[in-house]
Amino acid sequence: MKDSIKLQANQVALNGTLKVPGDKSISHRSIMFGAMAKGKTTVDGFLLGDDCLSTISCFQKLGVDIVVDGHEVTITSDGMESWKEPDEILDTGNSGTTTRLMLGILAGSNIHSVLVGDESIAKRPMKRVIEPLRQMGAKISGRSGGQFTPLAVQGTDLKAIDYTMPVASAQVKSAILLAGLQATGVTIIREKEVSRDHTERMLRQFGATVNCKDGVIQLQGGQKLAATHVEVPGDISSAAFFLVAAAIAKDSSIRLEKVGLNPTRTGIIDVLKNMGAQLEIEVEPDTEDKEPIGSVSIKTSELHGIEIGGELIPRLIDEIPIIALLATQANGTTVIKDAEELKVKETDRITAVVEELKKLGADIVATDDGMIINGPVTLTGGVLKSYGDHRIGMMGAIASVISTGPIEIEQASCISVSYPNFFEHLRNVSTSETLR
Ligand code: S3P
Repeated sequence: MKDSIKLQANQVALNGTLKVPGDKSISHRSIMFGAMAKGKTTVDGFLLGDDCLSTISCFQKLGVDIVVDGHEVTITSDGMESWKEPDEILDTGNSGTTTRLMLGILAGSNIHSVLVGDESIAKRPMKRVIEPLRQMGAKISGRSGGQFTPLAVQGTDLKAIDYTMPVASAQVKSAILLAGLQATGVTIIREKEVSRDHTERMLRQFGATVNCKDGVIQLQGGQKLAATHVEVPGDISSAAFFLVAAAIAKDSSIRLEKVGLNPTRTGIIDVLKNMGAQLEIEVEPDTEDKEPIGSVSIKTSELHGIEIGGELIPRLIDEIPIIALLATQANGTTVIKDAEELKVKETDRITAVVEELKKLGADIVATDDGMIINGPVTLTGGVLKSYGDHRIGMMGAIASVISTGPIEIEQASCISVSYPNFFEHLRNVSTSETLR
C-alpha cells in the first residue's frame, strides 16, 4: 500500500476558524478513569485518534463496557474489581501514554496481563516506570529485565512510596499516581520541573483528594473514584501546527476555538509571543479543577530567534518539531536546549527534525540536548520521512505552506495517531486551488 502524500508548494494565505480534535492526553485518561470508577462516565469531545482507540480496545479486553458514538463515549464500570483477566494480549499500538499509565493501573489490580505495542513502543524506555512501580511492590517482568515491551504484569498489593522524579515526565508521574491510588499509605511525588497535570485534575474531577504544592504531590491510597462527565478540550499540541502555519504563511489569519489552555501545556504560546508573533487569547471562565479552555487567534508575524530551555521544555515537549520549523522563518538564531527527552519519543525527534528540515534547505544542527536553527531561510520542496511519527509528518506538511516546491511525506497515515482530520483542516484554511 502506498502510504505517502504529496502536497504542492502552496505559497498562499491561510484563513479561517478551526476546532482542533480533542486533547490526546485527556482523552486517554477519561477512558482509564471511567474504567476504574464505579458507575457511568460520559465523555464529550473525545479524540478518535489511533492512540486513544488503542486505550479503548485495551479496556474492552478487560471487560469494561465502552460505547463510542461519534466524539461521545460512555464507559460503564463496576470498578476495577469487576475487570476480567484478559485471554489476549493488550495491544497499546503506538501509544506511550497507554503503555505507561496502564502499567500503573494494572500493577495494583487482581489480574494478570501482557502489554505489547508496535515497533516504536518496543524501543521506548519502560524502566523509568517499572523502577518506581517495583519499589511499590509491583510484579512486572519483560524484555531486558523489564526495560522494554512485551511486559507482563501480575497485579498485587502495593504500598505507597516517596519518589523524586529523575526526569520530567507526566507519563511516569501518572503511572505512579494511578498505582498510588490503589496502594496502602500516602504516595508522595516530587517534581523538579512540573509536567502536565491532567491526572491530578482528573483525580479531583472523579472525587479523589490530591494535594499539590511547590512541586510535591500527595495522594492517599484506597480512595474510590466516582463516575462523572468529562469535557475534552481541543488539543493545544494539534493547534500548534496551525498556529505556526498562520504565523509563517503570508497574509494569514487563523482562529482556533475551544483549545485547552492548561498552563502546564501552553509553552508554545509563550514561545510564539517571545518570538514576536501577533497572537490573541480569550480564556473562557473556568473552575479550579476543570481544564481551562479558550480561543487563540494568530496572524502572519515578523519573528525573531530566541533561546528555549529549562522549565519551559516539559510545557512544550511535543511542540518542538513544529517550533523548529517556525524557527527556520525567524530572524537570527533559535537555540533549543535541555530537551534530551526528544530522543525517546515516538522516534528520535532531534535526529528526525534536523534531518528532514535540512532536506528542505534549513540551516539547522543537532546538539546533544536539542538543536540550533538560523533563519530566515527559504524552504524548498523535497521528499520527507515521517519515521512513522505523527508530529514529524505534520511538521513536514505544514512546511508546504511556505515551500517553493512540492513536499512529499512518506508514511503519512501515522498522522491519524493524534489528528485524524489534519489534511481536511489544512484544506479548509488554505486559499490554494490545488489543495481545495
Ligand atoms: C503525555 C506526556 C508526555 C507527552 C506525551 C503525552 C501524557 O510524555 O510527550 O505525548 O499524556 O502524559 P512524557 O510524560 O513521557 O514526557
